[in-house]
Amino acid sequence: MIKIGVMASGGGSNFKAIIDHIGEGDLEAQCKFLITNNGTCGAVEHAMSYGIPVYHISGKTHPDVHQYERALCAVLDERPVDLLILAGYMKALPDVLVERMENRILNIHPSLLPKFGGKGFWGIHVHEAVLAAGEKESGPTVHLVSKEIDSGRILTQRKVPVLPGDTPEVLQARVLEQEHDLYWRTIRDYAAEVL
Ligand code: GRF
Repeated sequence: MIKIGVMASGGGSNFKAIIDHIGEGDLEAQCKFLITNNGTCGAVEHAMSYGIPVYHISGKTHPDVHQYERALCAVLDERPVDLLILAGYMKALPDVLVERMENRILNIHPSLLPKFGGKGFWGIHVHEAVLAAGEKESGPTVHLVSKEIDSGRILTQRKVPVLPGDTPEVLQARVLEQEHDLYWRTIRDYAAEVL
């Protein structure tokens, strides 16, 4: 049984998809916690409805950076996990956490990395940039988290077509649908490889 912890800041549809696949028996895992930097986001609502403990840790709750880092590490001390899953977590992780969980932190990004990754490429901006560049295909990437944003080892990718008339929102929805199927499978396969 894989023990995972999830970090999310937004709507939480990837988080929900993972929890649902655990519930359906596709992924043999337990989710030990949700860490969020946004106490009112959709991911928190999902966590509460599934009875998953929520930790709200942000620059507001912990203004001192060392206190903030200690709070994150304290969650891992209290609820140890095999893998930390970033599911729309909009804040760079402190180095101390990346070092502590080296090769054990996964992230999903909504483009075919290394294209359209790094600073400024988040949310709808990724899909706007893909369309502006005239790409013929896009799709999600699951990768390991390293200290440089969006540049850890790529684990899986899935391609979707970019279609004539696509708006950023339409493309985003097409990519997101694939994220929901790709992420839990990647967690399952990566865990089988390294745990
Ligand atoms: C997804 O597009 C993911 O690739 C990116 O953030 C978004 C999160 O969406 N990292 P949701 O909160 O899981 O719906």
